[in-house]
Amino acid sequence: MPSLRSYHIVTYGCQMNDNDSEIMAGILESKGLEYVPSAEDADVVVVNTCVVREGAEERALGRVANLASAKKRGNCKVLAISGCMAQKDGEHLLKLLPNVDLVIGTRDLFKLGELIEHVVVSGERVVAVEDIDKPVFGGVQPVRRFSQVRGLVTVMYGCNNFCTFCIVPHTRGREVSRPVAEVVEEVRRLADEGYSEVVLLGQNVNSYYDKEKRANFADLLAAVNEVAGIKRIRFVTSHPKDCTRQLIEAIATLDKVCESIHLPVQAGSNRVLRRMKRFYTKEEYLNLLSSLRERVPAIAITTDIIVGFPDETEQDFEETYDLMERARWDSAFMFMYSPRPGTKAAEWIDSVPLEEKKRRLQRCITLQERISTEINAQLLGTVQSVLVESVSKKSEAQLMGRTRSDKAVVFTGPTSLIGQEVNVRITETFAHTLRGVLVSRGESSFDARVGSDKNGRRETIVKLGI
Ligand code: SAH
Ligand code: SF4
Ligand code: F3S
Repeated sequence: MPSLRSYHIVTYGCQMNDNDSEIMAGILESKGLEYVPSAEDADVVVVNTCVVREGAEERALGRVANLASAKKRGNCKVLAISGCMAQKDGEHLLKLLPNVDLVIGTRDLFKLGELIEHVVVSGERVVAVEDIDKPVFGGVQPVRRFSQVRGLVTVMYGCNNFCTFCIVPHTRGREVSRPVAEVVEEVRRLADEGYSEVVLLGQNVNSYYDKEKRANFADLLAAVNEVAGIKRIRFVTSHPKDCTRQLIEAIATLDKVCESIHLPVQAGSNRVLRRMKRFYTKEEYLNLLSSLRERVPAIAITTDIIVGFPDETEQDFEETYDLMERARWDSAFMFMYSPRPGTKAAEWIDSVPLEEKKRRLQRCITLQERISTEINAQLLGTVQSVLVESVSKKSEAQLMGRTRSDKAVVFTGPTSLIGQEVNVRITETFAHTLRGVLVSRGESSFDARVGSDKNGRRETIVKLGI
């Protein structure tokens, strides 16, 4: 593509979209294009969109509309929309936005290179949105990674659950798992490139299944655990209904699998859970938390909560509030219900007024802040194994890394530590972050104990007794 030299990708939404953007960037770089940090300077701009809530959709659409109206004034020769909005709205987007050249669906992204060539050569505007149930596999691609430390690896596409509020199955299609060998090969390449952490991605990784190998998600974790050079394995998202004993055992026994799990509950009222089609009760969810905490005591558990689902009464909401107090998640993503056309729940009356949704959300946020603060305070004085990710956003002089339990820690240290696991003593704790100091060599006797306790407190927490 001689006339095109540079590209920029704007990404909204979940980590699967992040990974899709990395794959698209890899494709564009293989065609000779160079990444530029500003969309205004790029020949090719891709906006990778999310429509999970109305707010997300408005943000993405607003950005595309801005870029489309600025297109004539800038460098942009090809403006493309990918991701869940592209899948959902297809051709309609070309009609709505005359300066958009390409709309590319969620299972068509591997064709990005040829499609852009076609747009440039023919001057046509193109909609490439295939049936989402047609599996399109890229194999192991050259991927342009945006993080130097965390390697994202999509292990399955789509979702079969059709929770009644959720648009994802409509935009990502049915579940398809990548073969174990392909995932392992990609992880091996990451290790060769110097990555020490991988995040295995899927909308519901617990239902991963490689038919040929008869391997489920716990088996996949065991296979990835064997890859030399990788130190940490994470995964998102786990559906509580598919969280098996075998998976809990895998977290407890595989040394690289980190002690953290994102386990979205959505609501605490059994009536609401039924109407959401989540297939578990509040009691079953609490039992699952007990099993996880019993087997992996240092595990950090996070969740997603929706307030104001259609017909959620005050009493239903109190059940969610009560569950928050009992579950004591390390942190929670909390949302007001937003009807998504095409989903089952969007056929029901959005009965909870906005003001009431806001009030319920605020109560949840206040409670969760308190719980997160209390839980993190328990880490004060402990030494944590921290994988350094980057310089801190707030201060160039500081580094940001994460504990195995996925908590962000800010501390002073040289940038040469980025990508390394170091020991940090926690000196201050807040609801969302921890502060600490790098443990000096003089304390290396403690280092020897880090990670050595394979049973129970396998987490790299070492009490210093101070
Ligand atoms: N696959 C993941 C979540 C995908 S969407 C899972 O099964 O949990 C991420 C989160 O967005 C969901 O967990 C849910 O809490 C929230 N969400 C999805 N649809 C929503 C809607 N219509 N309104 C508000 N929140 C929504
Ligand atoms: Fe959406 Fe439910 Fe699938 Fe998660 S499991 S992506 S919430 S339908
Ligand atoms: Fe959004 Fe699609 Fe992910 S709707 S949350 S980008 S699967």
